[in-house]
Amino acid sequence: MTVEGKETSYVVSAPGKVILFGEHSVVYGQPAIAAAVSLRTYLLVTEPRVEGYVTLDLPDTGMSKSWRISELPFVADGDVAREAGRLDHGLVERLEPLLSDLENTYQHSASLAFLYLYCSMCTAHTPAHTYGARSVLPIGAGLGSSASYTVCVAGALLKAAGLAGRADAADLINSWSFMGETCVHGNPSGIDNAVATRGGAVYFQREPKVAASFAFPPLKLILTNTAIPRRTSDLVAGVGKLKDRLPAISQPLLDAMGEVAKEAYEILKTDNDDVGQRLGELARINHGLLVALGVSHPVLEQVKCAADAVALGHTKLTGAGGGGCAITIVDDESKLTDELLASFSKAVPEPCEVFETVLGAQGVGYTVLDRQLDMPEFLKLSGSKEYDALGEWHYWK
Ligand code: MEV
Repeated sequence: MTVEGKETSYVVSAPGKVILFGEHSVVYGQPAIAAAVSLRTYLLVTEPRVEGYVTLDLPDTGMSKSWRISELPFVADGDVAREAGRLDHGLVERLEPLLSDLENTYQHSASLAFLYLYCSMCTAHTPAHTYGARSVLPIGAGLGSSASYTVCVAGALLKAAGLAGRADAADLINSWSFMGETCVHGNPSGIDNAVATRGGAVYFQREPKVAASFAFPPLKLILTNTAIPRRTSDLVAGVGKLKDRLPAISQPLLDAMGEVAKEAYEILKTDNDDVGQRLGELARINHGLLVALGVSHPVLEQVKCAADAVALGHTKLTGAGGGGCAITIVDDESKLTDELLASFSKAVPEPCEVFETVLGAQGVGYTVLDRQLDMPEFLKLSGSKEYDALGEWHYWK
């Protein structure tokens, strides 16, 4: 069927991100810069597995769970077009009993975000579907996997509610995914969902609100995943405690990070030859400030030392830190040979993985499938290329 909201099979996808400058300080109102990466989350929306039930499959975490639609605590008006506003703690409380049997925190927070958005954006009359999320992004690595998931959920539900064609669809997706992120993290700044929605690169400030999209220059960037798991919410809370305990010391560090982001934005707006060199210098300063806030990790420091030792470029942690990923901005691309990359990959500790990345991927989009795809078939697809080839993608702008 092709009536909006009744199409029986479609896929929504949204990118992950790297924060180039200003993670953590962005939570406290400083500006930051993030860009979308080509690794994405894909959410299949297909026929209901059991009539009258909505199902959420999270195969990356081994979860499949169904809820009876007539038992869900829908928000009375189901008016998606309103601003998402603040988190409705009453709704979270009403949802908790539906999540009590979930095994781990990933399953719990992803299901809470899903049901929160389902009960807010849909009504009991929205056609029932099965929703299945597959991430090509490493989860919990600082690459915005939770925001790309909540952006996919918000996009899919907007479509299920028959509102995907609205002119303000991207704003609604951004606003509702922020509520999903709040369910997952408690106190997100909003930068991750902004870049997962809009794609490209974003200069972002929480208060007063700024979200300026721009095209990121084609700079070479090396991404190193330490594979050390960590939780964004714990790291954000740790910085919050430091700020409360030592405000006169932590505030200047956060302010300096804001200045780093402002300076970087000026450099990015003026198309200079030495962009890599100048951004690299700022990356080095930003990393030092993050170390001072206590969010680095010994393995991230080993990665930085390995990059410095072979003169690969300037390295900083990205995202919440405490493990996860580091980025290296290559200041002189003519130096970036296969041999140099190989000697860096050899020098980083096991089980780090090194990738070359291009920034500035497309934001949230969907493709309507011309055939019914079931979950096992969807899961058999391997890698971004096969997911991206599912159909013609329409991006919400
Ligand atoms: C997480 O990707 C970045 C942080 O700044 C938290 C946030 O902005 O919500 C650490």
